[in-house]
Amino acid sequence: MNDLTSLLGIDVPIVLAPFGPWEEVELAAAVCNAGGLGSLGTALRSAKELQEQWRRLRDLTDRPFAINHTGRPLDREAFEATLDAQPAVISFHMGIPAELIALAHDRGIRWIQAVGDLDGAERALEAGADVLVAQGSEAGGNAGWISTLVLVPAVVDLAGSTPVVAAGGIADGRGLAAALALGAQGASLGTRFLATTEMTIAREWKDRIVAAHAQDTVKVPHSELVMPPFTLPQVGAAFAPRVLRTPLTDRLETDPAGVDPAALAQQVREEVGAGRGQDLLPFTGQSAELVHDIVPAAELVARLIADCRNALDRARLVYGLGIP
Ligand SMILES: Cc1cc2nc3c(=O)[nH]c(=O)nc-3n(C[C@H](O)[C@H](O)[C@H](O)COP(=O)(O)O)c2cc1C
Repeated sequence: MNDLTSLLGIDVPIVLAPFGPWEEVELAAAVCNAGGLGSLGTALRSAKELQEQWRRLRDLTDRPFAINHTGRPLDREAFEATLDAQPAVISFHMGIPAELIALAHDRGIRWIQAVGDLDGAERALEAGADVLVAQGSEAGGNAGWISTLVLVPAVVDLAGSTPVVAAGGIADGRGLAAALALGAQGASLGTRFLATTEMTIAREWKDRIVAAHAQDTVKVPHSELVMPPFTLPQVGAAFAPRVLRTPLTDRLETDPAGVDPAALAQQVREEVGAGRGQDLLPFTGQSAELVHDIVPAAELVARLIADCRNALDRARLVYGLGIP
């Protein structure tokens, strides 16, 4: 147990990342039941659809979970519905809305704020966030430009007694051990959890993750042409999504003027709404390099914890053998 696990009421310091519009109810339930914190994304879905997801998740687990919102864009109706649903935790990215944090706290809901730099971390602490996620540029999905190895200890130094969770590039027990060694109290994993049996994305996307090298993931060039707008003031450096390279990312690099943003936004919305999207912008991080199999989530959580223990023991042993 540490401050993070006691604050959130979980058993192991592992957070399943929210996956925007991609459906992850069964996966979240499996992670919650394995002792971690499951999350659900809310992007592109109506409040009614989301309420149905939350009902299903509550049928599958009585453990705490997080509902995620972002400022790209903020859907106020869905956010109100989330407050009414009273999850244990709301997690938030791309905008640091102090007034929404206060509303969550009024309902007894904890607030996890993702940040990509020190300006964001400072503002999140001022706004009253209960936990900071320090998310490095290796991460799948929207992230900033500072690497996890640099960002996490810097945010830990600033955060004082507020627990910090490391995110970006962590896909195995060694990564979790490294996060703990940097002073984080846990890790949030996205890309690794995409390659689980419960995750609803296409098999083709999971297979690409297993086969991918780190350099097969790219920050989407001119992402403002294809991503929804930011609707909250942004703090610090801009965010751009990291995805597996596709013909669309190549086109955005070589011929951004030839892209019709309205048509593309519609296409992305339709594909993702239908559970696809892997041909356009398959959000995936550099840690795909470290993903070698598709496994049930509970098995993955157990493996992460066992491998983390081994990694920490090994590090202690190496040090004990006299390496200064
Ligand atoms: C498919 C996908 C969708 C994501 N959607 C969201 C989201 O809606 N909200 C959010 O805060 N983060 C989102 N993220 C970022 C994750 O929360 C997490 O920080 C990131 O995946 C961690 O890095 P990793 O992929 O290297 O594990 C997403 C990531 C992926 C891979």
